[in-house]
Amino acid sequence: MRPRLTIAIDGPAGSGKSTVARRVAALLGYLYMDSGAMYRAVALKAIERQLGFDDEAKLEALTRQTHIELKPPLPEQEAAGLKNRVYLDGREVTREIRMADVAQAASRLAMLAGVRKVLVSEQQRAGQGGGVVMEGRDIGTVVFPAAELKIFLDAAPETRAERRWKEHLEKGESPTIEEVLQEVRERDQRDRERKVSPLVRAEDAVLIDNTAMDSEETARLIVLLAEERQKENS
Ligand code: CDP
Ligand code: CDP
Repeated sequence: MRPRLTIAIDGPAGSGKSTVARRVAALLGYLYMDSGAMYRAVALKAIERQLGFDDEAKLEALTRQTHIELKPPLPEQEAAGLKNRVYLDGREVTREIRMADVAQAASRLAMLAGVRKVLVSEQQRAGQGGGVVMEGRDIGTVVFPAAELKIFLDAAPETRAERRWKEHLEKGESPTIEEVLQEVRERDQRDRERKVSPLVRAEDAVLIDNTAMDSEETARLIVLLAEERQKENS
């Protein structure tokens, strides 16, 4: 039998992680996990409770008291470009967590070691045993440092912002492309420069720049790499 791998996909905002990871998981029959949705869900809860992002102990306790569920999207959600269905303490928050203010709040929350500790251990539990494609910022470096296949997915900032901008238009929102580029750049900088688990390419990660590739080509390339690793590991 072919070994069931752990595949880690990391990269900056709009690089295609969710779309590609979900497709790779479907092609291989693996579980897909969006770790960013977990940071976004806790961030939404903190916003709703009007908590600031400076009280780490309080936010760590909030994270411990939070129940997050990730499920495949419903057909109409999938048609609207959503990659998963997200529940926060039993309430569906699939759309809310994709708002720009929640993205910004998530990247502030993600700077806190106490919060990360709680979410990382949940991610490790969910992915134990392999047969999983997990995407985020620290999957190959911290969550699954022994993953058999690590991908660092990247694309030019302007391309990433344009992809995000198109998604906003499809949802009926109308930010300018400059506003989206600014949001993406700000968040990237915070994610790359933070002290705890910054966004960096793991030494053993394969760098894929998909600026000029569509998501299907990118997913198929990763599946080919996975098949090679399966042979090496069998
Ligand atoms: O998860 P991440 O923020 O890295 O990106 P995403 O949400 O998967 O992708 C953002 C948008 O770019 C989606 O609408 C994808 O369909 C699109 N995309 C693309 O046009 N070409 C690619 N090679 C990858 C993603
Ligand atoms: O979809 P997009 O790439 O824009 O963001 P996301 O993957 O949903 O993640 C939202 C934010 O959560 C990121 O900007 C990071 O600050 C944080 N995050 C993280 O720190 N570690 C992860 N493994 C996943 C997300």
